[in-house]
Amino acid sequence: MTFDATTTDATTVVVDLGARSYDIIVGKDLLPQAGPLIRPVLSAGDKPKVVIVTDDIVAGHHLKTLTSSLDASDIAWSTITVPAGEASKNFQQLELVLAQMIEARIERNDAVIALGGGVIGDLAGFAASVLRRGVDVIQIPTTLLAQVDSSVGGKTAINAAQGKNLIGTFHQPRLVIADISVLQSLPPRELKAGYAEIVKYGLIDDPAFFDWLVENGSALLDGDNDRRQFAVVKSCEAKARMVAGDERETGNRALLNLGHTFGHALEAEMGYGDGLRHGEAVSIGMRMAFDFSLATELCPEEDTERLKQHLIACHMPVHISDIPGKAQDGKWTADVLLHHMGQDKKVSAGEMTFILAKGIGQSFVTRDIDTEELMTFLTVEVSK
Ligand SMILES: NC(=O)c1ccc[n+]([C@@H]2O[C@H](COP(=O)([O-])OP(=O)(O)OC[C@H]3O[C@@H](n4cnc5c(N)ncnc54)[C@H](O)[C@@H]3O)[C@@H](O)[C@H]2O)c1
Ligand SMILES: [Zn+2]
Repeated sequence: MTFDATTTDATTVVVDLGARSYDIIVGKDLLPQAGPLIRPVLSAGDKPKVVIVTDDIVAGHHLKTLTSSLDASDIAWSTITVPAGEASKNFQQLELVLAQMIEARIERNDAVIALGGGVIGDLAGFAASVLRRGVDVIQIPTTLLAQVDSSVGGKTAINAAQGKNLIGTFHQPRLVIADISVLQSLPPRELKAGYAEIVKYGLIDDPAFFDWLVENGSALLDGDNDRRQFAVVKSCEAKARMVAGDERETGNRALLNLGHTFGHALEAEMGYGDGLRHGEAVSIGMRMAFDFSLATELCPEEDTERLKQHLIACHMPVHISDIPGKAQDGKWTADVLLHHMGQDKKVSAGEMTFILAKGIGQSFVTRDIDTEELMTFLTVEVSK
C-alpha cells in the first residue's frame, strides 16, 4: 500500500461510463477553486447559470466560499437551502426544491450544484434528474460519507413512508469535487459514520487497504488531512470501479451493500432519526455480516475478530447495545429485525440478498440464506 504523506496535490479519479463518464477531483482547498473547476463542464455561453442546493448547517460553514469562487469565474448562481437532516429527503422538500428551481429559471443547459452530505446529494440529485426531464448535477460532498460513497455512482433518492430510499433515479453527476478541507468543520460523530463506509471497501476486496486502515485509521479520524485524502481517493477508486462494471446494480455493485442489510434493519427500528447515523448502522451491520459469516462457517474467526477490534479501536459502534438510547424494553426481537430486512429495497422476488464474506477482502453476494440460521443468529445479536 503506497502512501506518500508528501503528496498533497489533488487527484482525479475517473468514473468510466462511456458518454456519462465523469471526474472525481479529490484534494485540499478545492472549494475556493470551485469556479474554475466547474466552468469546463458547464455549457458554453456568455454567462452560465447554476443553482446551489445546500442545507442550513453546511450553508453557514461553506456557502460563501463557493459563491465567491463562482463570482470570480463569472458563473451566475442562486441558492436553495433546506433544513439539515434526513427528514428533508421527502416529497414535500422535493416539491419545494423543484418549485424554486423552476422559479430560478433553471433550464436544460444549466446545472444544479449539490453542496452538502448524502441527504443533499440524494435530494438535489433526484430533483436535477426530473427537472425538465433532467439537468446536470455537480456534486460537492461535504461529509466524509458523501465523499467516499453517496456522491459517486449516480443513485438519487427520497424516502417513502414505507421505507428509506424507495423513490429515486439513477442520474450520474457531471463532476464530483471532494474537498478534504471542508471536513474540518464536520462533527467527529459524522466523521466516524463516514469512516465505516471506508472500512467497507477494505472488507469487500482490498485486504491491503484494510491493513493500511488498521495502521492509519485513528490518525485519519483525528484530523490528518493527507491520510484522509489517501483514503477518499482509494474509496472513490473502488466505488468507481464497481459502478463502471455494473452501473444499475444488476450484479456485483451490490457488494457495496456489505453491512447494509443488517444496518438498514437497525436504522428502520430506530426510525431514521438522529439516534443512529447511517454509517453507525453500517459499522454494526458489517460486524454482524462478518459474524454471521463466521456462524455459517464461511469466515475464519481471526478475520471477524480483526474487524471488530479495529472498529472498537476507532470508537465505532459494533453491537446493537452500543446504540445510545437503544430500547431496553424487549422491542428489539429477531422477528422485528427480520421483518425490517424483508422491507429492504434489495429484496428481489421475495428473497433477501446478503453480502457475506470468506474473510477480509473476500466478500460475495448471496441469496442462499437459511432463515432458521439467520433467526438463531439474530436472537443472539439482540441479547448481546
Ligand atoms: N446515493 C447513494 O449512493 C448513497 C450512499 C450512501 C448513503 N446515502 C444517503 O446519504 C445520507 C446520509 O448522508 P450523510 O451521512 O452525509 O448525512 P447528512 O447529509 O445528513 O449530513 C450529516 C450532518 O452533517 C452536516 N454537515 C455536512 N457537511 C458538513 C460540514 N462540512 N461541516 C459541518 N457539518 C456538516 C449536515 O448538515 C448534517 O447535519 C442518507 O440519506 C443515505 O441514504 C446515499
Ligand atoms: Zn451506506
